[in-house]
Amino acid sequence: MSKRTVVLLLLVVLVLASVFVSATGAEKKKIVVGFAQVGAESAWRMANTESIISEAKKRGVELIFVDCQQLQTNQIKALRSFIERKVDVIGFSPIVTTGWEEVLREAKQANIPVILTDRGVDCADDSLWVTLIGSDFVEEGRRAARWLAEKMNGKANIVELQGTIGSAPTIDRKKGFEEVIANYPEMKIIMSKTGDFTRSKGKEVMEEFLKAEGDRIDVLFSHNDDMAIGAIQAIEAYGLRPGVDIIIVSVDAIRAAFEAMIEGKLNCTVECNPLLGRQFFDAVEAIMAGEPLPKRIIVEEGVFPQEVARDVLPTRRY
Ligand code: AHR
Repeated sequence: MSKRTVVLLLLVVLVLASVFVSATGAEKKKIVVGFAQVGAESAWRMANTESIISEAKKRGVELIFVDCQQLQTNQIKALRSFIERKVDVIGFSPIVTTGWEEVLREAKQANIPVILTDRGVDCADDSLWVTLIGSDFVEEGRRAARWLAEKMNGKANIVELQGTIGSAPTIDRKKGFEEVIANYPEMKIIMSKTGDFTRSKGKEVMEEFLKAEGDRIDVLFSHNDDMAIGAIQAIEAYGLRPGVDIIIVSVDAIRAAFEAMIEGKLNCTVECNPLLGRQFFDAVEAIMAGEPLPKRIIVEEGVFPQEVARDVLPTRRY
Protein backbone atom coordinates (compact mmCIF):
# COMPACT_ATOMS: atom_id res chain seq x y z
CA MET A 1 0.00 0.00 0.00
CA SER A 2 1.39 3.40 -0.99
CA LYS A 3 1.92 6.17 1.56
CA ARG A 4 -0.79 8.21 -0.17
CA THR A 5 -3.37 5.41 0.19
CA VAL A 6 -2.55 5.02 3.88
CA VAL A 7 -3.06 8.77 4.47
CA LEU A 8 -6.33 8.69 2.52
CA LEU A 9 -7.59 5.68 4.48
CA LEU A 10 -6.71 7.41 7.76
CA LEU A 11 -8.65 10.51 6.68
CA VAL A 12 -11.70 8.38 5.80
CA VAL A 13 -11.53 6.69 9.23
CA LEU A 14 -11.33 10.07 10.98
CA VAL A 15 -14.30 11.50 9.07
CA LEU A 16 -16.39 8.40 9.75
CA ALA A 17 -15.48 8.50 13.45
CA SER A 18 -16.55 12.13 13.77
CA VAL A 19 -19.84 11.41 11.95
CA PHE A 20 -20.48 8.51 14.36
CA VAL A 21 -19.67 10.60 17.44
CA SER A 22 -22.05 13.38 16.33
CA ALA A 23 -24.80 10.90 15.43
CA THR A 24 -24.63 9.17 18.83
CA GLY A 25 -24.57 12.50 20.61
CA ALA A 26 -21.36 11.53 22.41
CA GLU A 27 -19.79 14.85 21.42
CA LYS A 28 -22.03 17.05 23.62
CA LYS A 29 -21.46 20.78 23.32
CA LYS A 30 -20.29 22.26 26.62
CA ILE A 31 -22.66 24.90 28.02
CA VAL A 32 -20.88 28.23 28.51
CA VAL A 33 -22.21 30.54 31.24
CA GLY A 34 -21.01 34.04 32.11
CA PHE A 35 -21.59 35.01 35.74
CA ALA A 36 -21.04 38.59 36.98
CA GLN A 37 -20.86 38.44 40.78
CA VAL A 38 -21.44 41.47 43.06
CA GLY A 39 -18.10 41.15 44.86
CA ALA A 40 -16.71 39.55 48.02
CA GLU A 41 -18.26 41.96 50.54
CA SER A 42 -19.61 39.42 53.02
CA ALA A 43 -19.44 35.81 54.20
CA TRP A 44 -22.85 35.40 52.52
CA ARG A 45 -21.38 36.46 49.19
CA MET A 46 -18.38 34.10 49.51
CA ALA A 47 -20.77 31.19 50.18
CA ASN A 48 -22.85 32.23 47.17
CA THR A 49 -19.76 32.35 44.93
CA GLU A 50 -18.59 28.95 46.16
CA SER A 51 -22.02 27.49 45.49
CA ILE A 52 -22.06 28.79 41.87
CA ILE A 53 -18.48 27.71 41.08
CA SER A 54 -18.72 24.24 42.60
CA GLU A 55 -22.06 23.50 40.92
CA ALA A 56 -20.66 24.53 37.51
CA LYS A 57 -17.72 22.15 38.04
CA LYS A 58 -20.04 19.34 39.12
CA ARG A 59 -22.12 19.70 35.94
CA GLY A 60 -19.22 20.21 33.53
CA VAL A 61 -20.42 23.70 32.61
CA GLU A 62 -17.78 26.17 31.41
CA LEU A 63 -18.14 29.13 33.78
CA ILE A 64 -16.71 32.56 33.07
CA PHE A 65 -16.80 34.15 36.52
CA VAL A 66 -16.17 37.86 37.15
CA ASP A 67 -15.95 39.48 40.60
CA CYS A 68 -17.31 43.01 40.02
CA GLN A 69 -16.07 44.47 43.33
CA GLN A 70 -19.37 46.15 44.21
CA LEU A 71 -19.17 48.46 41.15
CA GLN A 72 -22.05 48.62 38.67
CA THR A 73 -19.68 49.86 35.95
CA ASN A 74 -17.64 46.64 36.34
CA GLN A 75 -20.78 44.55 36.19
CA ILE A 76 -21.98 46.23 32.97
CA LYS A 77 -18.51 45.73 31.47
CA ALA A 78 -18.60 42.04 32.41
CA LEU A 79 -22.06 41.58 30.85
CA ARG A 80 -20.83 43.20 27.61
CA SER A 81 -17.81 40.90 27.52
CA PHE A 82 -20.13 37.88 27.90
CA ILE A 83 -22.25 39.14 25.00
CA GLU A 84 -19.14 39.56 22.87
CA ARG A 85 -18.01 36.01 23.72
CA LYS A 86 -21.49 34.73 22.76
CA VAL A 87 -21.99 32.72 25.97
CA ASP A 88 -25.08 30.47 26.12
CA VAL A 89 -26.55 32.05 29.28
CA ILE A 90 -25.70 35.08 31.42
CA GLY A 91 -26.24 35.07 35.18
CA PHE A 92 -25.79 38.01 37.49
CA SER A 93 -26.76 39.43 40.82
CA PRO A 94 -27.36 43.15 40.16
CA ILE A 95 -25.42 45.35 42.58
CA VAL A 96 -28.16 48.01 42.45
CA THR A 97 -31.68 47.86 41.04
CA THR A 98 -31.54 50.61 38.39
CA GLY A 99 -29.54 51.32 35.21
CA TRP A 100 -29.77 47.91 33.49
CA GLU A 101 -32.13 48.46 30.51
CA GLU A 102 -29.47 49.23 27.93
CA VAL A 103 -27.16 46.30 28.58
CA LEU A 104 -30.06 43.87 29.09
CA ARG A 105 -31.44 44.95 25.71
CA GLU A 106 -28.05 44.25 24.15
CA ALA A 107 -28.17 40.72 25.59
CA LYS A 108 -31.70 40.23 24.27
CA GLN A 109 -30.70 41.43 20.79
CA ALA A 110 -27.83 38.93 20.86
CA ASN A 111 -30.35 36.20 21.84
CA ILE A 112 -28.57 35.47 25.11
CA PRO A 113 -30.95 34.60 27.96
CA VAL A 114 -30.31 36.29 31.31
CA ILE A 115 -30.98 34.81 34.74
CA LEU A 116 -31.02 37.12 37.75
CA THR A 117 -29.84 35.51 40.96
CA ASP A 118 -30.22 36.82 44.50
CA ARG A 119 -31.06 40.47 43.64
CA GLY A 120 -33.67 41.89 41.29
CA VAL A 121 -33.79 44.91 38.99
CA ASP A 122 -36.20 47.83 38.77
CA CYS A 123 -36.99 47.67 35.08
CA ALA A 124 -40.42 47.93 33.41
CA ASP A 125 -39.67 45.44 30.61
CA ASP A 126 -39.53 42.07 32.31
CA SER A 127 -38.89 40.30 28.99
CA LEU A 128 -35.24 41.30 29.48
CA TRP A 129 -34.59 38.42 31.87
CA VAL A 130 -35.93 34.87 32.10
CA THR A 131 -36.26 34.42 35.84
CA LEU A 132 -35.14 35.76 39.21
CA ILE A 133 -33.93 33.14 41.69
CA GLY A 134 -33.54 34.41 45.25
CA SER A 135 -34.99 35.40 48.58
CA ASP A 136 -38.02 37.50 49.42
CA PHE A 137 -36.13 40.42 51.01
CA VAL A 138 -39.30 42.30 52.03
CA GLU A 139 -40.37 39.26 54.01
CA GLU A 140 -36.92 39.07 55.64
CA GLY A 141 -37.36 42.66 56.88
CA ARG A 142 -40.83 41.81 58.17
CA ARG A 143 -39.51 38.71 59.95
CA ALA A 144 -36.81 40.74 61.71
CA ALA A 145 -39.36 43.34 62.84
CA ARG A 146 -41.94 40.79 64.01
CA TRP A 147 -39.32 39.02 66.13
CA LEU A 148 -38.17 42.37 67.52
CA ALA A 149 -41.65 43.69 68.34
CA GLU A 150 -42.28 40.61 70.45
CA LYS A 151 -38.88 40.72 72.13
CA MET A 152 -39.18 44.45 72.99
CA ASN A 153 -42.92 44.43 73.81
CA GLY A 154 -43.46 46.97 71.04
CA LYS A 155 -41.13 49.61 72.51
CA ALA A 156 -37.62 50.46 71.26
CA ASN A 157 -35.23 53.11 69.97
CA ILE A 158 -33.70 51.44 66.94
CA VAL A 159 -30.58 52.21 64.93
CA GLU A 160 -30.42 50.69 61.47
CA LEU A 161 -27.38 49.59 59.50
CA GLN A 162 -28.48 49.53 55.88
CA GLY A 163 -26.81 47.49 53.14
CA THR A 164 -25.57 48.94 49.86
CA ILE A 165 -27.68 51.94 48.92
CA GLY A 166 -29.90 51.26 45.89
CA SER A 167 -29.56 47.46 46.15
CA ALA A 168 -32.66 45.27 46.25
CA PRO A 169 -31.97 43.74 49.70
CA THR A 170 -31.46 47.19 51.24
CA ILE A 171 -34.60 48.69 49.70
CA ASP A 172 -36.76 45.66 50.46
CA ARG A 173 -35.51 44.77 53.95
CA LYS A 174 -36.05 48.38 55.02
CA LYS A 175 -39.52 48.38 53.48
CA GLY A 176 -40.57 45.12 55.20
CA PHE A 177 -39.12 46.18 58.55
CA GLU A 178 -40.79 49.63 58.51
CA GLU A 179 -44.10 48.13 57.39
CA VAL A 180 -44.26 46.01 60.57
CA ILE A 181 -42.93 48.55 63.08
CA ALA A 182 -45.49 51.06 61.78
CA ASN A 183 -47.96 49.06 63.89
CA TYR A 184 -46.01 49.90 67.05
CA PRO A 185 -46.03 53.66 67.79
CA GLU A 186 -43.31 53.24 70.43
CA MET A 187 -40.86 51.55 68.08
CA LYS A 188 -38.81 54.16 66.26
CA ILE A 189 -35.76 54.18 63.97
CA ILE A 190 -33.69 56.98 65.49
CA MET A 191 -30.68 56.71 63.16
CA SER A 192 -30.13 54.91 59.86
CA LYS A 193 -27.07 54.74 57.63
CA THR A 194 -25.39 52.43 55.14
CA GLY A 195 -22.58 50.08 56.18
CA ASP A 196 -22.36 48.72 52.60
CA PHE A 197 -22.79 45.11 53.82
CA THR A 198 -19.19 44.98 55.15
CA ARG A 199 -17.84 44.32 58.66
CA SER A 200 -15.46 47.28 58.63
CA LYS A 201 -18.17 49.75 57.59
CA GLY A 202 -20.61 48.21 60.07
CA LYS A 203 -18.14 48.90 62.87
CA GLU A 204 -17.42 52.43 61.66
CA VAL A 205 -21.09 53.42 61.36
CA MET A 206 -22.01 51.84 64.71
CA GLU A 207 -19.28 54.00 66.30
CA GLU A 208 -21.05 57.05 64.80
CA PHE A 209 -24.43 55.88 66.13
CA LEU A 210 -22.98 55.40 69.61
CA LYS A 211 -21.26 58.76 69.57
CA ALA A 212 -24.53 60.48 68.63
CA GLU A 213 -27.07 58.49 70.65
CA GLY A 214 -25.09 56.33 73.14
CA ASP A 215 -27.25 54.86 75.89
CA ARG A 216 -30.47 55.88 74.13
CA ILE A 217 -30.00 53.00 71.67
CA ASP A 218 -32.06 49.93 72.60
CA VAL A 219 -31.77 47.97 69.36
CA LEU A 220 -29.61 47.51 66.28
CA PHE A 221 -31.30 46.25 63.12
CA SER A 222 -28.54 45.30 60.69
CA HIS A 223 -29.28 44.40 57.07
CA ASN A 224 -26.65 41.65 57.27
CA ASP A 225 -24.69 39.64 59.81
CA ASP A 226 -21.28 40.92 58.74
CA MET A 227 -22.20 44.53 59.59
CA ALA A 228 -23.71 43.32 62.90
CA ILE A 229 -20.43 41.57 63.74
CA GLY A 230 -18.51 44.77 63.01
CA ALA A 231 -21.03 46.69 65.16
CA ILE A 232 -20.56 44.23 68.05
CA GLN A 233 -16.88 45.25 68.21
CA ALA A 234 -17.88 48.93 68.29
CA ILE A 235 -20.43 48.35 71.07
CA GLU A 236 -17.88 46.48 73.19
CA ALA A 237 -15.26 49.18 72.64
CA TYR A 238 -17.85 51.76 73.76
CA GLY A 239 -18.31 49.83 77.01
CA LEU A 240 -21.77 48.35 76.44
CA ARG A 241 -22.77 44.69 76.17
CA PRO A 242 -23.96 43.69 72.67
CA GLY A 243 -26.94 41.37 72.91
CA VAL A 244 -27.78 42.62 76.43
CA ASP A 245 -27.55 46.45 76.60
CA ILE A 246 -28.24 46.68 72.87
CA ILE A 247 -30.44 43.98 71.33
CA ILE A 248 -29.25 42.97 67.85
CA VAL A 249 -31.24 41.45 65.00
CA SER A 250 -29.64 40.91 61.61
CA VAL A 251 -30.06 39.02 58.35
CA ASP A 252 -28.25 36.13 56.56
CA ALA A 253 -27.75 33.41 59.22
CA ILE A 254 -24.05 32.82 58.51
CA ARG A 255 -22.07 30.56 60.88
CA ALA A 256 -20.36 33.56 62.52
CA ALA A 257 -23.79 34.89 63.54
CA PHE A 258 -24.55 31.61 65.31
CA GLU A 259 -21.20 31.79 67.10
CA ALA A 260 -22.01 35.37 68.20
CA MET A 261 -25.44 34.21 69.42
CA ILE A 262 -23.85 31.38 71.43
CA GLU A 263 -21.60 34.01 73.07
CA GLY A 264 -24.76 36.01 73.84
CA LYS A 265 -23.71 38.98 71.67
CA LEU A 266 -26.34 38.74 68.93
CA ASN A 267 -30.00 38.00 69.56
CA CYS A 268 -31.55 36.84 66.31
CA THR A 269 -30.64 36.24 62.67
CA VAL A 270 -33.12 35.99 59.80
CA GLU A 271 -32.05 33.51 57.15
CA CYS A 272 -31.11 34.54 53.61
CA ASN A 273 -29.88 31.47 51.75
CA PRO A 274 -26.83 32.01 49.48
CA LEU A 275 -26.63 28.41 48.25
CA LEU A 276 -28.24 29.13 44.90
CA GLY A 277 -25.87 27.13 42.66
CA ARG A 278 -28.13 24.12 42.18
CA GLN A 279 -31.22 26.18 41.34
CA PHE A 280 -29.22 28.48 39.08
CA PHE A 281 -27.81 25.65 36.96
CA ASP A 282 -31.17 23.83 36.93
CA ALA A 283 -32.51 27.01 35.33
CA VAL A 284 -29.57 27.17 32.88
CA GLU A 285 -30.21 23.58 31.81
CA ALA A 286 -33.95 24.18 31.49
CA ILE A 287 -33.28 27.16 29.21
CA MET A 288 -30.88 25.10 27.08
CA ALA A 289 -33.54 22.38 26.79
CA GLY A 290 -36.15 24.96 25.76
CA GLU A 291 -38.25 24.35 28.89
CA PRO A 292 -40.34 27.17 30.41
CA LEU A 293 -39.40 28.69 33.79
CA PRO A 294 -41.44 30.71 36.30
CA LYS A 295 -40.59 34.41 36.36
CA ARG A 296 -39.75 34.22 40.07
CA ILE A 297 -38.20 31.36 42.06
CA ILE A 298 -38.31 32.10 45.80
CA VAL A 299 -36.00 30.40 48.29
CA GLU A 300 -37.44 28.97 51.55
CA GLU A 301 -35.91 30.49 54.71
CA GLY A 302 -36.27 30.59 58.51
CA VAL A 303 -35.66 32.76 61.58
CA PHE A 304 -33.08 31.75 64.21
CA PRO A 305 -33.24 33.34 67.67
CA GLN A 306 -30.35 33.04 70.15
CA GLU A 307 -32.08 30.20 72.05
CA VAL A 308 -31.70 27.72 69.16
CA ALA A 309 -28.16 28.74 68.09
CA ARG A 310 -26.24 25.95 69.83
CA ASP A 311 -28.44 23.20 68.37
CA VAL A 312 -28.56 24.69 64.86
CA LEU A 313 -24.89 25.69 64.38
CA PRO A 314 -23.63 22.16 63.55
CA THR A 315 -26.13 21.97 60.68
CA ARG A 316 -25.17 25.29 59.05
CA ARG A 317 -23.42 25.00 55.68
CA TYR A 318 -22.28 28.62 55.35
O1 AHR B 1 -28.00 40.22 48.31
C1 AHR B 1 -27.84 39.50 49.47
C2 AHR B 1 -27.03 40.30 50.44
O2 AHR B 1 -25.78 40.63 49.87
C3 AHR B 1 -26.67 39.61 51.74
O3 AHR B 1 -27.62 39.75 52.72
C4 AHR B 1 -25.43 40.34 52.10
O4 AHR B 1 -24.70 39.74 53.14
C5 AHR B 1 -24.75 40.34 50.80
O5 AHR B 1 -23.66 41.12 50.71
